[in-house]
Amino acid sequence: MDKVNSIRLDRAVSQVTDLSRVAVKRAAKQGRITVNHIAITNSATKVLNTDYLCLDGRPLQEAGPRYFILNKPPGYICATKDSNQSSVLDLLEETNKRKLHIAGRLDIDTTGLVLITDDGQWSHRVTSPRYQCEKIYHAQLASAIDSHGVAKFAQGIWLKNDNKRTHPAKLEILLDNAVRITITEGRYHQVKRMFAAIGNRVVKLHRERVGEIILEESLPEGEYRPLTAAEVASVNKP
Ligand code: URA
Repeated sequence: MDKVNSIRLDRAVSQVTDLSRVAVKRAAKQGRITVNHIAITNSATKVLNTDYLCLDGRPLQEAGPRYFILNKPPGYICATKDSNQSSVLDLLEETNKRKLHIAGRLDIDTTGLVLITDDGQWSHRVTSPRYQCEKIYHAQLASAIDSHGVAKFAQGIWLKNDNKRTHPAKLEILLDNAVRITITEGRYHQVKRMFAAIGNRVVKLHRERVGEIILEESLPEGEYRPLTAAEVASVNKP
């Protein structure tokens, strides 16, 4: 059986949220914290690790690993800390965001599907080239592309400063200067560098899909939702 420990309420809450102990004290005074459904206004109160804590009516104990899909707007970086720039994590209204990370980053100007989780093994299966998880992008290009481009991408491309060809990529021509591209790696600026390598330029890039997880059009930019159990399980399929 797990050992029962008692700690101060402010410590217990700040450990599982992004709130400082001062902020927890303020929240408690405002009656926003409940312990076993009773508002506790004194943040020095001792609580047990078996107590049921809520902030603003939301349970603070996490039930298990968390998985989210977010529709990234332009102008947000995919980073957990750092800098004055807005991060996609700022768009999440979740407790204990410190534990979350991004499974496969997008550039600041790229839009679309971002996966966020606290399950490191799961995100490894999404991002590691070993698992060949497909990432599908819609790209708008500066110049028209032809079937030679399709053939080159299918063979794999030598990128500047890399010592290995890219894995074969699928290219579907949608319009003269719009394509759908499928890659199974996540090298730095990979799609932009692949088009640069064949003398073209990506003007706009949007991620539509990762493996079997599809960004639905009904999820507005800047919004997110939890992944379904089937979406989570799809990543672990052989
Ligand atoms: N490839 C890029 O060049 N940029 C992205 O954001 C994602 C893939």
